[in-house]
Amino acid sequence: MSYIEVRYPERGAEFYKMLGEQLELYTRGERDLTAVLANASSVIAQAFPKANWVGFYLVDKNELRLGPFQGRPAVTRIGYGLGVCGSAWKRGEAIVVDEVECFEGHIACDCNTHSEIVVPMRRNGEIWGVLDMDSVLPAHFTEEDRAGLESCLDLLLRP
Ligand code: SME
Repeated sequence: MSYIEVRYPERGAEFYKMLGEQLELYTRGERDLTAVLANASSVIAQAFPKANWVGFYLVDKNELRLGPFQGRPAVTRIGYGLGVCGSAWKRGEAIVVDEVECFEGHIACDCNTHSEIVVPMRRNGEIWGVLDMDSVLPAHFTEEDRAGLESCLDLLLRP
């Protein structure tokens, strides 16, 4: 399989339709979680060139453990309710942060990061991990991204 570069439109319905198609294309039929999330992090990073970190944290007992990602090395464990990731897990909903310095308890991994989005992923109603994405731009992620990413992530590991 060779990767064919796609040109994404501005973020909106068409963008998320294409992102969903790309995620399906590069993860469909694969049941191994690491393989699926590794390609998913790459596909999402291609779609968000202003994101400096795209990756997954996976629920491991009472904390989140670093999973496949694109970007600089990051913290490997995040406690329940800690940071943006642990907070999204605890609240059971996505969190969009316009300026990370203003989010109390934010865990800094890359000092160039200004904004962040964390989207929980569920199976049978239970959160098994989160997508975390950082950007060097302030307020880079929107409520539309929250909804778009939620529906795209639902495609992953679908039976
Ligand atoms: N900022 C995250 C930590 C992970 S890094 O951004 C990759 C947080 O506050 O949970």
